[in-house]
Amino acid sequence: MARKKIVAGNWKMNTTLKEAIALTDEILSSSELCADVQKILFPPFPFLTAVSEKTAARPDFFTGAQNCAAFSSGAYTGEVSVAMIASCGASHVLIGHSERRQYFSENASDLRIKTELALSQKLIPVFCIGEKMEERQAGNHFEIVKKQMHDSLFHLDENAFGSVIIAYEPVWAIGTGLTASPDQAQEMHHYIRTCIAERYGKTLSDSVSVLYGGSCNAQNAKGLFSCPDIDGGLIGGASLKATDFTQIIKSF
Ligand code: PGA
Repeated sequence: MARKKIVAGNWKMNTTLKEAIALTDEILSSSELCADVQKILFPPFPFLTAVSEKTAARPDFFTGAQNCAAFSSGAYTGEVSVAMIASCGASHVLIGHSERRQYFSENASDLRIKTELALSQKLIPVFCIGEKMEERQAGNHFEIVKKQMHDSLFHLDENAFGSVIIAYEPVWAIGTGLTASPDQAQEMHHYIRTCIAERYGKTLSDSVSVLYGGSCNAQNAKGLFSCPDIDGGLIGGASLKATDFTQIIKSF
């Protein structure tokens, strides 16, 4: 199976309803080309339905939630379940973003449960992995990334793992303006694919989409996307400007 080209926009805790709708409209109207690139918008929870209704008419556009609860339903005030997310028209969910790991203390076992819940609702997990600066400086970055996959994903059977998208986001590059160089990113993406091949075999590892995230922008996207093991990007800051996001989509 050929890998998909994907550009995803993680809006994080930005936009109001009005701004989210305007941004969606602008992206939809300026990205009519590149039908072969899947675009996934991750607006804040309250705007998921409104954004999904807008993207529904476009087969190359998808929406997702930035997080999901680690419980399926019930007395968990303030939490949002995978069933709720799916019922808003979303098809994807971000799991394990470093901001969730760091600020909300999400651990490997929470993320394993969230992944299973997402898959049970036929949501596609976009599972984020990546090392911190000190881990890279200590030369532990490969080990860390392998452990993150091992601890939360590698218990899945082949079929389930086959629907997961991986996002490699070095923590030191997120929101900092520091980007992994194409060589650094390619090296890690190749390693990620090697780990997947060891666990699931080469055919499956060749078919998994692995996105790069961390200060990816309209200037550096082309260099990153031209690497053989990079299938696209998970974009934070630059996804909030339609012109930049569209430019990134056109960078393949
Ligand atoms: P950034 O964020 O592009 O603003 O660095 C990426 C992300 O957190 O997904």
